Amino acid sequence: MNYLKLPNTDLEVSQIALGCMRIADKTVDEVERLVQCALDLGVNFFDHADIYGGGRSERLFGEALARHPEWRERMVIQTKCAIVPGQRYDFSYDHIVDSVNQSLERLHTDHVEILLLHRPDALCDPQEVARAFDDLYEAGKVKYFGVSNHTPLQILLLEKYLKHKIVINQLQLSIVHSVIIDSGLNMNMTDAFAQDKDGGVLDWCRLNDVQIQAWSIVQASWADGTFLNNPKYGRLNETLERIAARYGVSKATIATAWILRHPARIQAIAGTTSCDHLKENIDACRIELTRQEWYDLYMAAEKPLP
Ligand SMILES: NC(=O)c1ccc[n+]([C@@H]2O[C@H](COP(=O)([O-])OP(=O)(O)OC[C@H]3O[C@@H](n4cnc5c(N)ncnc54)[C@H](OP(=O)(O)O)[C@@H]3O)[C@@H](O)[C@H]2O)c1
Repeated sequence: MNYLKLPNTDLEVSQIALGCMRIADKTVDEVERLVQCALDLGVNFFDHADIYGGGRSERLFGEALARHPEWRERMVIQTKCAIVPGQRYDFSYDHIVDSVNQSLERLHTDHVEILLLHRPDALCDPQEVARAFDDLYEAGKVKYFGVSNHTPLQILLLEKYLKHKIVINQLQLSIVHSVIIDSGLNMNMTDAFAQDKDGGVLDWCRLNDVQIQAWSIVQASWADGTFLNNPKYGRLNETLERIAARYGVSKATIATAWILRHPARIQAIAGTTSCDHLKENIDACRIELTRQEWYDLYMAAEKPLP
């Protein structure tokens, strides 16, 4: 396992984190085994959101944690708020504070290390967000704050009023979904891949020491599921297979290594519910893809290069 010092925090975190979105339909015994496995493999970072399984993911995790209070000091717990299913997005003071209080109750903990705003709210009043963050910090309920799926300008607008620096931006990134990389590579070209859809968020986060976390590292989309062994991604799977054979590892390991190879030192949020699959994701820490391998994978996902 690799560990990263999170910029502007006192936290040292595993580069592979466990994303807990998909544990919602597991039993508490299964969640207990998965979390124990993750800890044994060196994972110390657990990613949640109030909406995963309608709160069930946090609840199951909290029940497992209640059986093992000794786990807590080894864990960095991150949760998110502000998506309201059926209504959309809510950055209001009341929603943020209520959501955190409910998450803490479900998680059986008195604080989380990190709170993220899950997706931008067009009606965001940054002064109101600042008031919520200040109160949560003062109450000892949240140590650090971040965002997910935010542009640089949205972060700067928040930071104009926040006392607390935004330390994380969690973004979708995989070989198949590489929007944050595409426009930089295709700069000044006429095709759609050259379009800057996110305000240069990758370079901006690097310039400003905002840690990037990658979500859905082997998932193509909700509709397609994972791209691993998916006939729709035939050329990519052949290339993954060839490179995986070279290193004697699985295709999932190579897909994870593709993310870790980026010099932004991205933290990968692994969404697996299987201990064996998690091991494969973590094996990526031992592999440094060559430039040629990295670009071969990029192009095998049918991306153009000038
Ligand atoms: N910020 C956001 O907007 C946002 C959005 C979505 C997700 N997230 C976060 O990101 C985390 C990861 O998202 P995700 O679950 O979509 O990502 P993922 O890691 O790409 O996992 C997607 C699917 O791939 C399978 N898989 C994972 N590793 C595998 C392996 N080594 N071999 C074979 N299959 C494998 C998993 O099934 P198995 O369980 O069978 O392994 C899982 O169903 C979530 O848990 C959540 O914490 C954030």
